[in-house]
Amino acid sequence: MLQLIAFLLALLGMSIANFSPDPLSFALLCGFTAAILSHLAGLARWWLLIQLLFVPTLVLMLKLNVPSGVYLAAFLVMLAVYWSTFRSQVPLYLSSKRVWKTLEELLPSSASGKRFNFMDIGSGMGGVLTHLSTERPDGNFYGVENAPLPYLLSRLRIRLGNHANCHVQWGSLWTCNLAPYDVVFAYLSPVPMEQLWRKVKQEMRPGTLFISNSFAVPESPPQYSISLDDLHHSTLHIWHM
Ligand SMILES: C[S@@+](CC[C@H](N)C(=O)[O-])C[C@H]1O[C@@H](n2cnc3c(N)ncnc32)[C@H](O)[C@@H]1O
Repeated sequence: MLQLIAFLLALLGMSIANFSPDPLSFALLCGFTAAILSHLAGLARWWLLIQLLFVPTLVLMLKLNVPSGVYLAAFLVMLAVYWSTFRSQVPLYLSSKRVWKTLEELLPSSASGKRFNFMDIGSGMGGVLTHLSTERPDGNFYGVENAPLPYLLSRLRIRLGNHANCHVQWGSLWTCNLAPYDVVFAYLSPVPMEQLWRKVKQEMRPGTLFISNSFAVPESPPQYSISLDDLHHSTLHIWHM
C-alpha cells in the first residue's frame, strides 16, 4: 500500500510540475517517497532499503529482458522453501553444529537402557535429527516440517544416510501431539513462543525436557540457559517440565 501511495504521489508531483522523467528517475522518485512513507509509518529500518530499491530494481530487471519463466521458477523455489512463512513468521534458518553438539549432552542418559523419543518441531532440513540419530542410536528421532522442499530434502538425507531411527512427517507442528516425547526441541521465532508454551504445558509429560534455541517464552523464564559461542550467538533455553 505504501508503494502504491508513493507511486500515486510521484505521478501527481510529475503532472503538477508538468515534467516527464525517464523510467529510472521516476522509479527512484517512487522509491524515495516509499522509503519516507515507510519511515513515517514506523516500519523497521531494514524495510526502508527494500522500499527504496523495489521499483528501481523492477525497472532495471525489465531492461535485462530476463525470460518470465526465470521469475516463475525463482518464485516456485522460494515458495517451496518458505511456504507459509508469511503467516507463521518462522522462516528457514538452521541450527549450528555447536547447537547439535550441546543437544547431545542434554539427551537422556544411555545408562538407563531405555529408548527415548526426541522431537524437532519445525525440523527444516533434518540436520539436528540426523546428527543426533547417529550419535545416539538408543533414541528415536522425530521431526515435523510444513515446507515442502526442506521436508523432501530431509527425507532424502535420512534415506541416504540410513538413519533408521529417524522419521520426519509433513505437517504442522500445531497438530502434532507432544505427549509421546521425552525431549522437544524448537528453533522457531519470537512470534509463536507464547502459543507454543501453552501447547507444551498442556501436552508434555512431567519430567520431560523442552528446549528452545534462541527464543525465550515471554513471562515464563527457563530453568536455565546455555549461551554458545557460534556464529549466531545461540542460546539454548531449557525447561524441565
Ligand atoms: C528456524 S527453522 C529450524 C530448522 C531446524 N529445526 C534447525 O534447528 O536447524 C524453522 C523451521 O520450522 C518450519 N515451520 C514453521 N512453521 C511451522 C509449522 N507450523 N509446522 C511445521 N513446521 C514449521 C519452517 O518451515 C522452518 O523449516
